[in-house]
Amino acid sequence: MIPVNEPLLTEADYASVMGALRSGWISGAGPHIEAFEARWANYCGRAHGIAVANGSVALQVAVSLLDLRPGDEVILPTFTIISCAVPILLAGARPVVVDCDPLTWTMDVAQVESRITPRTRAIMAVHIYGHPVDMDPLLGIAERHNLQVVEDAAEAHGAEYRGRRAGSFGTSSCFSFYANKLVTTGEGGMLLVDEDRLAEHARSLRNLGFQPERRFLHTELGFNFRLTNLQAALGLAQIDRMDDIVARKRRIGQAYTERLSEMPGIELQVQQAWARGVYWMYGLVVREETGLDAAELAKRLKQRGVETRPFVLGMHEQPVLRERGLFAGESYPVAERIARQGLYLPSGLRLEEAQIDRVCQAVREVLA
Ligand SMILES: Cc1ncc(COP(=O)(O)O)c(C=O)c1O
Repeated sequence: MIPVNEPLLTEADYASVMGALRSGWISGAGPHIEAFEARWANYCGRAHGIAVANGSVALQVAVSLLDLRPGDEVILPTFTIISCAVPILLAGARPVVVDCDPLTWTMDVAQVESRITPRTRAIMAVHIYGHPVDMDPLLGIAERHNLQVVEDAAEAHGAEYRGRRAGSFGTSSCFSFYANKLVTTGEGGMLLVDEDRLAEHARSLRNLGFQPERRFLHTELGFNFRLTNLQAALGLAQIDRMDDIVARKRRIGQAYTERLSEMPGIELQVQQAWARGVYWMYGLVVREETGLDAAELAKRLKQRGVETRPFVLGMHEQPVLRERGLFAGESYPVAERIARQGLYLPSGLRLEEAQIDRVCQAVREVLA
């Protein structure tokens, strides 16, 4: 079976973790954490990094920084992971969703303005499968309506939008370092901000609201969202070879595109001229005319030794959200279609060209 993802770790990664282990800094404080935060923030073009336990809680802290009031609204794409919606709901606010662009599968920025109300406070932009959102028009809308922007760059390490790195836009940006991400710490995440005040607040929220001056005096509710120094050491070593990691991922993406772009019956994520994506995961949408949906395609690919993952189901179709009275009567046809017809292929950093050939041969056989 060709796995959908396998992390690629090196001797330098192992040595970095062993160094951290031997140093005795094994919990949520230590020099590797600070170095990892500084290096990642610098790589992405931001002033501050706040390392946290995973990407979902990075979003939790980012939303906490928005200081939402019950009834406030945040606009986000329906086609995303539930980690984006949960912190909005926990704040008592309302997620308001838009459909995806049919070509890039990222949020359709043209739909955003019509969803703004007097209660709208923020927009969450999610770069899907390593392809950036069209940020300039989105930032223009945010500015005109005085809204904050949270960037979810969990899937877009190293991606660029008009020459600017993903993770450098808006008030804050969030990353995941899960095992299938370009940089991985096993579990892990980071929030990036530019403002000193927000960085300090985020550090406090990450660490139970402890205060630098009087540790056990609490003035707000915080969390234990700390990343360990061992995890940070693993991530830090990978930043040294970020150019290689991104290049490798792009080679995998290009190899798939060369083999699949002329294949009838499927649609691929279209890379826009203003974007330099990183092909976090290589997705395809199988056309209904083939008589297949993603579940059937996945089953047949599995029989041929190819592991895949389905696309996410949009937020507006999630029972746990609908039973809260959200999204009643709303329909987002692009997200609904790709949720049923889309899957992603093996895309991990260890993937070899011969395996890509086998995967594409399997897709060809199933479609034939
Ligand atoms: C777009 C996006 N946001 C957030 C997350 C959450 O990250 P984590 O799995 O580290 O909690 C993911 C995870 O894959 C993601 O793809």
